[in-house]
Amino acid sequence: TAPTQIVTPERRPAERLAPGAPAGAAASVVAWVASIASLTTPDEIVWCDGSLRENDLLTKLMLETGTLTRLNPELRPNSFLARGDESDVARVEDRTFICSALESDAGPTNNWRDPAEMRATLEPLFSGSMRGRTMYVVPFSMGPLGSPLAKLGVQVTDSPYVVVSTGLMTRMGAGALALIDDDTEWVPAVHSVGAPLESGQRDVAWPCNGTKYISHFPETREIWSFGSAYGGNALLAKKAFALRIASVMARDEGWLAEHMLIIKVTNPAGRVFHVAAAFPSACGKTNLAMLQPTVPGWRVETIGDDIAWLRPDAEGRLRAINPEAGFFGVAPGTGVSTNPVAIDTVWGNTIFTNVAMRDDGDVWWEGMTEHAPEHLVDWRGEDWTPSLATPAAHPNSRFTVAARQCPTIANDWDDPEGVVIDAIIFGGRRASTVPLVVEARDWEHGVYLGATISSERTAAAEGTVGELRRDPFAMAPFCGYNMADHWAHWLEVGATLEKAPAVFQVNWFRKDADGRFLWPGFGENSRVLAWILDRVEGTADGLDSPIGVLPAPGAIDTSGLDLDPGDWDKLFEVDPTAHRREVDGVAEFFAGFGERVPSQLTAQLEALRTRLV
Ligand code: GDP
Ligand code: PGA
Ligand code: MN
Ligand code: MN
Repeated sequence: TAPTQIVTPERRPAERLAPGAPAGAAASVVAWVASIASLTTPDEIVWCDGSLRENDLLTKLMLETGTLTRLNPELRPNSFLARGDESDVARVEDRTFICSALESDAGPTNNWRDPAEMRATLEPLFSGSMRGRTMYVVPFSMGPLGSPLAKLGVQVTDSPYVVVSTGLMTRMGAGALALIDDDTEWVPAVHSVGAPLESGQRDVAWPCNGTKYISHFPETREIWSFGSAYGGNALLAKKAFALRIASVMARDEGWLAEHMLIIKVTNPAGRVFHVAAAFPSACGKTNLAMLQPTVPGWRVETIGDDIAWLRPDAEGRLRAINPEAGFFGVAPGTGVSTNPVAIDTVWGNTIFTNVAMRDDGDVWWEGMTEHAPEHLVDWRGEDWTPSLATPAAHPNSRFTVAARQCPTIANDWDDPEGVVIDAIIFGGRRASTVPLVVEARDWEHGVYLGATISSERTAAAEGTVGELRRDPFAMAPFCGYNMADHWAHWLEVGATLEKAPAVFQVNWFRKDADGRFLWPGFGENSRVLAWILDRVEGTADGLDSPIGVLPAPGAIDTSGLDLDPGDWDKLFEVDPTAHRREVDGVAEFFAGFGERVPSQLTAQLEALRTRLV
């Protein structure tokens, strides 16, 4: 279906306004590109084919404009550093809008704008916004090309950084465009950095605009993003499409689009499981996706690290694909001792954004090695020495790399049919109250655990780091519709499953009185994973508690762990006073959604309150 146009272009022949369209490009795509070109008036239009040659040309261009700096090819082959503008280094949740016809369909966790009002706001901003620049047409598939679970999209952008990044993160280019014909569904996504160039004006390394609008039109399945080139705001295939728009498609079509990693886990007996886990941004998804178990005999392989599309299959199981084809990972904290797999993955062919540069032309960030080098150029391009108080790399600095470079990528990671999910894990960053692991009693209790995730804010989005906030399903910034309807949808999907996954909650981030993490985390999280999957198998003991099923004493293998018994007890402490406060907080949170909160969740809340007295 042809997307609704924001602006009615002059009725000029499409070919003249969208020159260079490959033979066979769908008329709906050509007409849309023409309409955006007539609005944004780029100097040139380039239809991207996803080839190596195209990638090399764009890279060369960005080296010339200073957007990219080439890293030392002997240390980091074919890899680049990008330094963003200081005002454009994270997702901007307060500039992210859901423009559904009804405000109640966006719900209290989203910024809502009336669609007509937003179109009127956007039109003058996009008008002429690509002047002096090239508009790239970037077709992509989320999910393996032609998979029954995949979806197609086309982004236009005036940022070559966005094109090259999308090439790493998705199946981008001619193959995706060839799958679109005039009756194929595809999502149109318009992106402009909002920095037109007058003739003779020199470009800056990271063009962007102080005014930003990351806008979504769920009913017409459109995305319009203005003013930012930061990944989460500008690589529209990712958060904007694969989560915000896809969550609405999923609601309408009976599946789920979630902020989840996917792993394949093999136990010592050789039985294979698949696990999906939702944690808020910068709370450990990429690390768990690449986990190297410390528990002997267990093996973890990577399928996805950020987004999962899950759908009930004919046998009543939940099947999942990773719609992406790359990783956009948090750099700080990624080191040989924490995430050696990520370190190996970024050996080359990687774009690093807002990290520091070493004197030898390689990259560095906090946590990459135990000690900082004597001298660095920091993410802003300034000289840096370890005596400075400011971090050398931005706390939300990122690496962008193709999934196929990951040494632990599973052989079925791109299976077009997806993988059967055996367990779902919800988590967050909580210094207190929430135990290391707890199992939900059943699906409804699991949905309650997902709906009530709260987590300390991280640097992944603009805002105050450390502040506690509710982040239901780790989807607060990413659900394209009313969050309470999202909970109802989870309950509905669950009710159709014959073999629903078991549901768990984890917290790797509980601290002691001195602010030290109680749990070593990273590879040691495999001990928790082993208990979770032993529970799925029915071989591990659990202990009923007011908040769910805790591991029975001895059920988690702690041999070889450097942990004093007091710490172990604190990791599992269930303080009724703290949990009663939690319940009051949830009641207040639910009240914000009024009548839309599913009665099953209110019942869960009341049952929990009763168990806590
Ligand atoms: P994502 O954004 O959800 O993918 O989170 P990442 O896996 O990139 O992790 C975000 C930050 O949390 C990084 O600095 C990691 O080093 C840190 N982190 C991840 N897992 C753990 C863990 O188990 N324990 C601790 N203490 N930190 C972790
Ligand atoms: P993250 O992905 O979840 O790996 O941090 C980016 C984001 O959510 O902004
Ligand atoms: Mn994410
Ligand atoms: Mn991640």
